[in-house]
Amino acid sequence: MLFIDKLFGKEDKKLDKGKLPVHIAIIPDGNGRWAKKRGLPRSIGHKEGTNALRSIVKIADRVGIKYLTIYAFSTENWRRPKDEVDTLMALMLEFLKNAEKELEGSDVRIRVIGNTKGMSGELQNEIKRVTKLTEKRKGLNLVIALNYGGRDEIINTIKDIARDVLDGKLSIDRINEQLISEKLYTSDIPDPDMIIRTSGELRSSNFLLWQSAYTEYWFPDMLWPDFKEKDFIEAVCEYQKRNRRYGGV
Ligand code: FPP
Repeated sequence: MLFIDKLFGKEDKKLDKGKLPVHIAIIPDGNGRWAKKRGLPRSIGHKEGTNALRSIVKIADRVGIKYLTIYAFSTENWRRPKDEVDTLMALMLEFLKNAEKELEGSDVRIRVIGNTKGMSGELQNEIKRVTKLTEKRKGLNLVIALNYGGRDEIINTIKDIARDVLDGKLSIDRINEQLISEKLYTSDIPDPDMIIRTSGELRSSNFLLWQSAYTEYWFPDMLWPDFKEKDFIEAVCEYQKRNRRYGGV
C-alpha cells in the first residue's frame, strides 16, 4: 500500500481502501489499432498488450483486489487469421511459463476459465501446471478467460442441468439462480463488480453474460497497450463513485 501512496500520491488519496471492488474484469481491446497507428504488425500490439497485462496484475495485487479476470481469447477469436491466433496462443504460453518468475514473492493465484479442451496439448499442460502450482495462494486471483464465451458457458450449464434432471438427480423446482451460478466456470468466483473495456468500444462481446447482471461498466477511450497503473487506480476510483442499487431504490 505504501508503494501505491508513493507512486500515485494524490490519486491514491481518492481511493477508499475500505470500499474496494472485490472483482474487476477486463476486456483488453485495441491491441490491433495500437499497432496500426504505429505502422506495426498486429502481433506487436498483442505483445504490448501482454506487457500491459503484466503491470495491471501487479497493481491489482498491490491495491488489494481479490479477483482480476482478463478476456484473453474468446470462442469467436478463432475466426481471426491463423497467424494471429498462433501469436496469441504463443503469448499465452509464454505468459504462463514466465508467470512464476515474474510473480515471484507475490501471492497471486492463476486460474483459467473457458473451454480449455479446445487449446493445444502444450497449453493445456501449462495451464494445469501453473494452476496447480499456485492453487494454495491467497492473494489476487488472476482469472484468464481462454476460449471463453458467455453463451457457450450458459449452453454447457443448461446441458449439465438437463442431464441431472434426466438422470433423476435433480428436480426442476430446484433450478434457481444459485444452482446456475454454481454450474458456471466461475462457480467459486464472485460476480464482477466492474468490467473495464478499453478502446472506446461499447459492447460486452459475450463476456461473463450471466455474471454481469449487476456489474458496473467503465469504457475508457485508450487502447489496451496504453492502459497503465494510474488508469487502473482511476477505474477503482470511478467504481467507488457509483451507487449500486441492484434494482432497489
Ligand atoms: C483485443 O484487441 C485483444 C485480444 C483479442 C487479445 C487480448 C490478449 C492479450 C491482452 C494478450 C494475451 C493474454 C494473455 C493472458 C497473455 P484487438 O486485437 O481486437 O484490437 P483491435 O480491435 O484494435 O483490432
